Amino acid sequence: MSEDKNKNAEDKPSAQYKHITVLLNEAVQQMGVADDKEAAIYIDCTFGRGGHSRLILDKANAKSRLIGIDKDERAIETANELTAQDSRFSIVKSSFAEIKNISIEQGFLGLVDAVLMDLGVSSPQLDEADRGFSFMNDGPLDMRMDVDSGISAAQWVNETDENTMMHTFFDYGEEKFSRRIAKAICEHRENNPFTRTKELADVVKAAHPNWQKGKHPATRIFQAIRIKINQELDDLEQALKDVLVVLKPGGRLVVISFHSLEDRIVKRFMRKQSKGDDIPRGLPIMDVDRNQTMKLQGKAVKPSKDEVDENPRSRSAIMRAAVKL
Ligand SMILES: C[S@@+](CC[C@H](N)C(=O)[O-])C[C@H]1O[C@@H](n2cnc3c(N)ncnc32)[C@H](O)[C@@H]1O
Repeated sequence: MSEDKNKNAEDKPSAQYKHITVLLNEAVQQMGVADDKEAAIYIDCTFGRGGHSRLILDKANAKSRLIGIDKDERAIETANELTAQDSRFSIVKSSFAEIKNISIEQGFLGLVDAVLMDLGVSSPQLDEADRGFSFMNDGPLDMRMDVDSGISAAQWVNETDENTMMHTFFDYGEEKFSRRIAKAICEHRENNPFTRTKELADVVKAAHPNWQKGKHPATRIFQAIRIKINQELDDLEQALKDVLVVLKPGGRLVVISFHSLEDRIVKRFMRKQSKGDDIPRGLPIMDVDRNQTMKLQGKAVKPSKDEVDENPRSRSAIMRAAVKL
C-alpha cells in the first residue's frame, strides 16, 4: 500500500514546519541506549531534525558517541548546532547507503552498539514548498533530499519514457491507473514541460478516474517519483546489508518504515537473517551451522492511538528491531 490508505500523505502543514519525531521513546529504548554502557557507539542514519538523536544523547553516558547521517543540507544545518553543543555528537552529510564506508573512515567498523533508521521524508521536507515534494503547496518540482546530487523530479517527469514512467508509478506508488496517468503526463509535457508541483498535481488529478475520499489523487504518483529519484529503496537495501558488518555482536538495528514497500524490505531482511540458510529437512545440521546472523527483537511496534491523534503523520509508521548475533 502507499503511505496511507485513507488520507492525504501530506495532511495539513505542521506548525512552523517542525518535525514531530515518531516512536521517539520506543525507538531509543529498542536501541538499548543506556547510561551504564561502556563508551557505546550509536548511529542515527536519518538525523532529520534530531529528535531521536537528542534523546539518545540524553540517555547515553559521557564516554559514548553518536554519529548522525543525513543527505539533506537543511538537516545538516540543524545537526551542526547540535555538534557545537555536544562533543559526543558528529554529523556526516551522506546517504546512509554509505554506512560501511563511514564506519571504516571513523574507525568503528564492527564496533557499533546500535543503528537507527527512521525512513522517508521529514515534515519540513514535505511542508516547505520550495523543496518541491508537495502536491498541496505549489513549488518548483524538485523532490530531492540532497539537492546537490541526482536529477530533479521535473527532469525525471520531462525526460522519462512513458513505459518506464508507468512501471515506476505502479511499482513505487502501487497506482492502479499508472498507464492512463503516464500517458496524460507525456501528452501535457509535449507543449508544456513541467516545472511546478501544482502543475503536475493538476494533470494527475484530471487524468485520475477514481478519486478516493479524503485522499489527493496525486498522492501515489508523488510518492512513486520521490522514491525513484531519491533511490530510497536501493539505499535501504544497501544499508541493511552493510549494517551486518557495522554492528558489533549484540548490536541492535532499529528501523521505522512509513509504507509497505519499505516495511516489506525490512521485514524480509530481518526474517532472512534470523532464519539463516534454507536447509533441507532431515539433514543433521545444528542451528549454529545455519548462518543465522540476527535475532528478531520483539514484535513490530506501531504508534499508540494517543501518538496518532497528536501527530497524524505517524499513523502509517511501523518499527522493527533485531540484534546481531
Ligand atoms: C523521517 S526523517 C527523520 C526524523 C528524525 N528521526 C527526527 O526525529 O528528527 C528522515 C530523514 O532521513 C533523511 N534520509 C532519508 N533517506 C536517506 C538516506 N538514504 N540517506 C541519508 N539520509 C536520508 C531525510 O533527509 C530526512 O531528513
